[in-house]
Amino acid sequence: MAPVMREAHNIYLPTLYPIEEVIPETGDIKTYRLNASQGSFSYQPGQFAEVFVPGTGEAPFSITSSPTQEGVLEFSIKRTGCVTDAIHRANAGDVFGVRGPYGRGFPVEDLRGRPLLFVGGGIGLAPLRSLINYVLSSQKRKEFKDVIILYGARTPQDLVFQWELSKWEERSDLELFTTVDRGDEEWKGRVGLVPNVMKENISVDPTQWKAIVCGPPIMIKFTIKALQEMGFQPADIITTLEMRMKCGLGKCGRCNIGPYYVCKEGPVFTFEELSRMPEEY
Ligand SMILES: Cc1cc2nc3c(=O)[nH]c(=O)nc-3n(C[C@H](O)[C@H](O)[C@H](O)COP(=O)(O)OP(=O)(O)OC[C@H]3O[C@@H](n4cnc5c(N)ncnc54)[C@H](O)[C@@H]3O)c2cc1C
Ligand code: FES
Repeated sequence: MAPVMREAHNIYLPTLYPIEEVIPETGDIKTYRLNASQGSFSYQPGQFAEVFVPGTGEAPFSITSSPTQEGVLEFSIKRTGCVTDAIHRANAGDVFGVRGPYGRGFPVEDLRGRPLLFVGGGIGLAPLRSLINYVLSSQKRKEFKDVIILYGARTPQDLVFQWELSKWEERSDLELFTTVDRGDEEWKGRVGLVPNVMKENISVDPTQWKAIVCGPPIMIKFTIKALQEMGFQPADIITTLEMRMKCGLGKCGRCNIGPYYVCKEGPVFTFEELSRMPEEY
């Protein structure tokens, strides 16, 4: 049989992908699983794409699926305005336009062979999830060492990917801590801010571990401070920024911090790299 030739994927042109499933996460966040089996969209954990509903504008979103899941593209999207409103009205069977992938993802080569501490807050778990599932995949797991995941949200109702957190909890090759800022009558788990829970419960050798952090800016700020108090060096702390973006391609200048374009040089940076930037992020 003649080999099937696939056309090279063009990152500048949008491709339409059908929505296979819509997973409600919280009151204002939904995860969209797209069927990307047609075409050759390939990406690294931590990269993002511009997503649109035909007839409306587009916006950048982290790819939350792992590249190890073939033929699948997932985005977790919070409803905040015009584009995300249109996205939230879409249902399984509708199509999304996707162009990308863009940006510099997580430094997978530097993380290989190291124990990894993931710290996520709110919808900030979305970009981390791509790398977490990459590391946990049967193809890649043996290339990485111990894994600890600390995930927090404001309330139990704000925890995303609860359907997957329970799967991670069952695994013997990782440790999962979840916490909320404010519990309720039904919540039997931990209550406390992410940086405090981290300092109280996690003790690791900071010369060996790498920390990967994503969440609201205030959480990132205090988590990085806590990691430094634990002895982590700035080069071993990695985070991903969500600046305002338009083109995603380094052309429009919307996302710059001083001379840096976050859409091209980021969105993933080490804290050492961020420390060299003007304080605008
Ligand atoms: C690299 C990158 C990855 C992202 N990943 C995700 C993701 O995985 N899931 C997700 O839900 N969102 C993500 N975002 C944010 C997302 O792009 C914005 O929420 C979206 O552009 C809002 O579009 P809108 O037209 O619905 O809202 P708009 O009408 O443009 O704005 C509505 C409100 O959202 C605020 N807003 C707009 N853009 C941003 C932004 N970039 N950061 C913070 N607030 C913003 C505005 O100030 C306004 O208050 C990401 C952004 C970037 C740059
Ligand atoms: S979003 Fe246009 S230059 Fe970065």
